[in-house]
Amino acid sequence: MEYAIEAQGLTRIYQNKVALYNFSLKVERGKIFGLLGPNGAGKSTLIRIIAGLEKPDDGTLKIFGSAADVKNRKRIGIAPQENAIYPLLTCMENLLYFGSLYGVGGKKARTRAVYLLENLGLGPKKDTPSEFLSGGMKRRLSLACALMHKPDIIILDEPTTGLDPATRISMWATLKQVLSESKATLILTTHYMEEAEALCEKIAFMNSGVIVAEGTLDELKKLVGKEIAKLKSVPGEPKHLVEIIKGTKGVDNVTATEHGVIMEGKDLGAEMAGISRALKDNGETVVELSISKPSLEDVFLKLTGTKLREAGKIEPDK
Ligand SMILES: Nc1ncnc2c1ncn2[C@@H]1O[C@H](COP(=O)(O)OP(=O)(O)OP(=O)(O)O)[C@@H](O)[C@H]1O
Ligand SMILES: [Mg+2]
Repeated sequence: MEYAIEAQGLTRIYQNKVALYNFSLKVERGKIFGLLGPNGAGKSTLIRIIAGLEKPDDGTLKIFGSAADVKNRKRIGIAPQENAIYPLLTCMENLLYFGSLYGVGGKKARTRAVYLLENLGLGPKKDTPSEFLSGGMKRRLSLACALMHKPDIIILDEPTTGLDPATRISMWATLKQVLSESKATLILTTHYMEEAEALCEKIAFMNSGVIVAEGTLDELKKLVGKEIAKLKSVPGEPKHLVEIIKGTKGVDNVTATEHGVIMEGKDLGAEMAGISRALKDNGETVVELSISKPSLEDVFLKLTGTKLREAGKIEPDK
């Protein structure tokens, strides 16, 4: 399989700070890949290395199967964590400038710029110098600049930080639309777990320059937490219910509360048929059932939060 990005053993050390350590990652073509991790984890460092803005001290990087060089890096469009737009240039001028860096000029560039401005809700600001845009508008202009040359790999470092909730959600829709039109690969970093849940097909959790876990949403959730199910049944005498459920497969813990029985298990959804059957055989009828999966936030805290706490410090990186 040819990957959009293949990083092998990347290491980057600043003075005495290890930002990336023997870091390896494969991003499949056409996928939306999320990089999550606390402040200072090394996400932006990785992105700068992929984009060619910085050199690693060690390791190799491939883009679509060949060694990263100026030519194949042109297939990348990047919106860095700090907006790279020029304050004195208007929105249109910024877009035409970024287009020209990637060889998109003339009428083609203008048409693309108008399309992106309209799509990202910046149409009315076309001729406004970007210094006069609001923070959220600058973020959107920065995204538009990254998309001018229709890149095959789009890399967005915290694309929605500072956006209001409605704009954030409309940004997700725009990204999905861009991807469905272009079949591009998207790599993004975010501190919003609901954003990762909404967008990412694959996620890597980073901490202190290494990957601490990687997988699909479901895989990550299974790795960390147990599901919790709440069940009500009639006649539903609590002690009786606990006895029945205790004996069924896949249930690790059962407690009776006045609101019903609460149970824990790794994959309760899959075990529920067996549990219901056991209840039915004992003259019980389930009247209410809810299963809650661990959230991505739980995964994040478990994988990265405890480590920070163990280390006894949260570095003031910002
Ligand atoms: N130019 C630099 N000089 C010195 N140290 C740096 C430099 N750039 C990054 N670092 C350090 O490298 C580590 C990783 O930083 P990086 O910006 O990659 O983290 P991040 O995961 O993007 O964090 P955030 O979520 O805050 O954006 C941090 O400890 C940071 O202080
Ligand atoms: Mg960063």
